[in-house]
Amino acid sequence: MHDFLAPKKCKLRAHTKIHKSPFLAYKQLAGGSSGITCAKLGEAEVMAQAGISDILIANEIIGKHKAQRLANLAKYCDLKVAVDDPGNARDISSAASTAGSEVGLVVDVNMSGGGPTGEKKLEGMLNRCGVSSAEMGSELAVEISKLPNVRLRGVMGYEGGLPENPDAEEGKSLTRQALERLVRVSNAIEDRGLAVELVSCGSSTSYKVAADTPGITEIQAGSYILMDTYHHRFSPEFDYALWVVAQVISLPKPDRAILDAGGTAISGDAGLPELRAKTSGMKIVELNAEHIHVETGPGTALHRGDRLEIVPSNIDTTTCLHDNYVVTRKGEVEMLLPVAARGKFQ
Ligand SMILES: Cc1ncc(COP(=O)(O)O)c(C=O)c1O
Repeated sequence: MHDFLAPKKCKLRAHTKIHKSPFLAYKQLAGGSSGITCAKLGEAEVMAQAGISDILIANEIIGKHKAQRLANLAKYCDLKVAVDDPGNARDISSAASTAGSEVGLVVDVNMSGGGPTGEKKLEGMLNRCGVSSAEMGSELAVEISKLPNVRLRGVMGYEGGLPENPDAEEGKSLTRQALERLVRVSNAIEDRGLAVELVSCGSSTSYKVAADTPGITEIQAGSYILMDTYHHRFSPEFDYALWVVAQVISLPKPDRAILDAGGTAISGDAGLPELRAKTSGMKIVELNAEHIHVETGPGTALHRGDRLEIVPSNIDTTTCLHDNYVVTRKGEVEMLLPVAARGKFQ
């Protein structure tokens, strides 16, 4: 990811909700990421307390109490947050005025849903937060520009990565159309005489399309660093760097082994996890809260106590289940690395 983006105009702003570790965030910064992205205020607090200075919270932070926390945090780092509502922008402005800080605001754009100006819904693309037209985006930007202690920094949108589409080229084309909508909002804001520094979007599956879309300045890719089976289907160029190790605890039938890790240790929210080693005839067929069922074919006998490495289908909903990473190099354990922002979802 870093090598791909290094010669491009468009920079990486690594999404750290994937690993929730300031140590890994620092590695990404050292590798060329221009700053970091967080999903939650609590995550941003952990990253700022570790000394990271350039942080985008790619999410709406709502309510006066949270606005106050945001305003306080902005004293310690260059903090930017997504907004899609003038009332929310006013709350943040008022909290920052009280705190004596400045919070950067980034207009959040829903690029995929149908907008009020007749823009089509883009099938298979994420339809979540954000303003849904260039007019709404530029109006909000003008409102922000009038408020004290907040500064308009740009626009962001999350299209959800490449869509599940049997026609890969069509998937890329839908993604490009979504990203072009984001650039149109940015242009509309500039047409109102306001500066747009950041046009932020993209993911570990859409980064190539995003980097080649004129006007995009940064990509919020995250999963590429550890990977999961969902992202691997789209971006096999990134190796798996994380797996959960589970033990065989029971062999109820000749073709079945039961492991001692389940949904409390490995997420199943993007489908069943997979065995890291592709041993023919052996596959995961069921995930319970505390158990995994493995079907074993002829010649794949397992024994109680055997250890298997399992790759999750979704990485962020797996890392949040663990206190530590066991960091290994060439099979040797080097350290236990805390998942420091685990549980910091408030
Ligand atoms: C707002 C936002 N940006 C970026 C990403 C990163 O995407 P990926 O994990 O595919 O790199 C996500 C992931 O859910 C996201 O919600």
